[in-house]
Amino acid sequence: MSAPVIMTVENGIAVIEINNPPVNALSQAVRSGLIECVREADADGAVDAIVIYGAGRTFIAGADIKEFGKPPQEPHLPPLISEMEAVSTPTVAALHGTALGGGLETALGSHYRIALASARFGLPEVKLGLLPGAGGTQRLPRVIPVAKAADMITSGAMIGAKEALDLGLIDEIAEGDDIRAAGIAFAQDLVKAGKGPRPTNARPCNPVTSDEMAAIRAKVTKAARGLMAPVSCITALEAAVSMPFEDGLKRERELFMELMQTDQRSAMIHVFFAERKVGKIAEIEGVAPRDISQVGVIGGGTMGSGIATSALLAGLEVILAERDDAAAARALETVGKNLSGAVKRGKLSQAKYDAIMADQFRTTLDYADFSNADLVIEAVFESMEVKQDVFGKLDAICKPGAILASNTSYLNINDIAAMTKRPQDVVGLHFFSPAHVMKLLEVVVADKTAPDVVASGFALGKRMGKIAVRSGVCDGFIGNRIMNAYAKAINGTVLAGASPYDVDRAMENFGLAMGLFSVADLAGLDIGWANRKRMAPNRDPRERYAEFADKICELGRYGRKTGRGFYVYEEGKRGGTPDPEVLEVIAQERAAKGIQPTEMSDQDIIDRYMAAMINEAARIVGEGIAQRPLDVDITLLNGYGFPRWRGGPMQYADTVGLEKVLNDIKTYQKEDDYFWQPAPLLEQLVAEGKTFSSLNG
Ligand code: CAA
Repeated sequence: MSAPVIMTVENGIAVIEINNPPVNALSQAVRSGLIECVREADADGAVDAIVIYGAGRTFIAGADIKEFGKPPQEPHLPPLISEMEAVSTPTVAALHGTALGGGLETALGSHYRIALASARFGLPEVKLGLLPGAGGTQRLPRVIPVAKAADMITSGAMIGAKEALDLGLIDEIAEGDDIRAAGIAFAQDLVKAGKGPRPTNARPCNPVTSDEMAAIRAKVTKAARGLMAPVSCITALEAAVSMPFEDGLKRERELFMELMQTDQRSAMIHVFFAERKVGKIAEIEGVAPRDISQVGVIGGGTMGSGIATSALLAGLEVILAERDDAAAARALETVGKNLSGAVKRGKLSQAKYDAIMADQFRTTLDYADFSNADLVIEAVFESMEVKQDVFGKLDAICKPGAILASNTSYLNINDIAAMTKRPQDVVGLHFFSPAHVMKLLEVVVADKTAPDVVASGFALGKRMGKIAVRSGVCDGFIGNRIMNAYAKAINGTVLAGASPYDVDRAMENFGLAMGLFSVADLAGLDIGWANRKRMAPNRDPRERYAEFADKICELGRYGRKTGRGFYVYEEGKRGGTPDPEVLEVIAQERAAKGIQPTEMSDQDIIDRYMAAMINEAARIVGEGIAQRPLDVDITLLNGYGFPRWRGGPMQYADTVGLEKVLNDIKTYQKEDDYFWQPAPLLEQLVAEGKTFSSLNG
């Protein structure tokens, strides 16, 4: 293997190349190679300036995340950057691709920075539950305004070269695309101009008033909602503002080490790798996806229009089928509205919007127009008969090799595929509403789905900017099946003593944006009610069915849209207010069932909610519906609002301990032996002393 850092000296310029594919992460070998080269160059009397750049697609994308959680190895990054900063030879960081985390910190420790116009810069440590721990919180506010530094550090968002230049983060945008040559030319100009080192730590921190700083802290703390890293970032920035550089650096280090020990850090790093692993499945390794350029969408309701929007934004041509002219016109309008939302948010230019609406999108009343489509996704009414009818028609019309996909949330894809003579081309593509916003896409693989159709589902997800997860066929697939389980547990929790308002508060404190009952009110209670009525004949008589949600619907309370659901909604007010009428309905059910309500703490509620989620997830993994626990985590994180910093239910289970979860389930089993049956996989892992993560491969 060649050295990850090499240096050449040309005409008085030492050029240090970092070559550690794929993203030039600062592994131990890179750190030691870098500092040795800098030392050697600085000691070389023939070297007038040093240029540091990255080989391949990018400058340094940060610390090597794979090393986190392992014993740290010297040389450590913070002293390395300080030593680089102190050299007497002017040093230039020549940046392309993404200079992230420790990569941007290395650039901040260099004396000058130039970049290609396409380069992007960021300190994304906060997304890993950390803060920039190699001087980033101390050097950045010395280079750019404190408020902007706070924004970059606490959001982890990247900025482009133009903004970086305007802020003073870089000195110049280089022309062309040869960053090495640009770096050398810049260094030569420095030497010619007689410019020496310009250490960032010698600059004062940019000015900020204590009121401004207090306002930044208040805003960040409010938005963090239990997440520690952003708040620690602000504490580090306050040190930059109020302390000498070296003291600030020490404070930053302490805060970094504190965060390094947290479960939040482990959880967020688990998510980072899980999101990259979720698409790596044996079935599609080396399998080329089918070409997709024209997509048919059936149904122009909220879901169909969202799917169409997503496909259009991904550059695909879309034909949307509706029943009649009026419905087609409504779909056209909805897609137009979705796309103008993208224009408003700056995600789409007006010109691109016009081009999409003129050339990429049309509606039809006739499935015959799908004869040339590479993929057709149906998003019609959730009924097996209706879907089977649609697939029979598609089978007759679509060209050979076209992929036929159903967006069903619950129904059996095998039964749908059976209506065609090409079950190998049939797959579930389960989008989440609103489909042009939500990140999750479940790729539901039926018994006969061909591997290149599965690969196409993943490729489509990527093209749409979504995270695709493989699911096998079962009622509700991974996500909705788990949601049904925890919703039942929550209903049981309410009968046992918690109010819906206690539940929502506990869930929100746990990190969800909204509690289950607020979400139900928003979605409309009548939808779940209709579903429950449909399922009623199949209900097992042993199930302890909670009736209060049905009773509330019987009172005409369908949620927000009727002004009343679990909460009462007043015109002009954002949230809902609790309602004694709802509590009375619940109290009556408890009395009728002879249940003595008990006090429940937030933790009691969360324990039940999590135990149900983990237990069902363990069944799903045990049955092979999800291939790995990480598939469950990614599903819940991207489709169900599970807090990212808790890493997903399986990571959470590993953190609290599987034994505790199993014990909780056994305790609840005494209350309801039908629902609370421990999953065999959970029992097995506990018996073997293993974790879910041991199954992630
Ligand atoms: N360490 C180790 N591996 C990394 C890595 C890192 N910092 N960044 C990316 N990788 C790996 C990925 O796991 C992936 O590996 P596989 O191919 O085996 O799956 C590979 O590099 C390519 O990554 P992506 O698939 O994400 O490629 P992309 O082109 O979509 O995105 C990227 C590239 C923008 C750099 C993105 O990978 C990214 O955001 N990386 C993380 C950057 C980051 O968080 N840096 C901060 C690190 S913490 C730090 O620096 C602490 C400090 O202060 C000292």
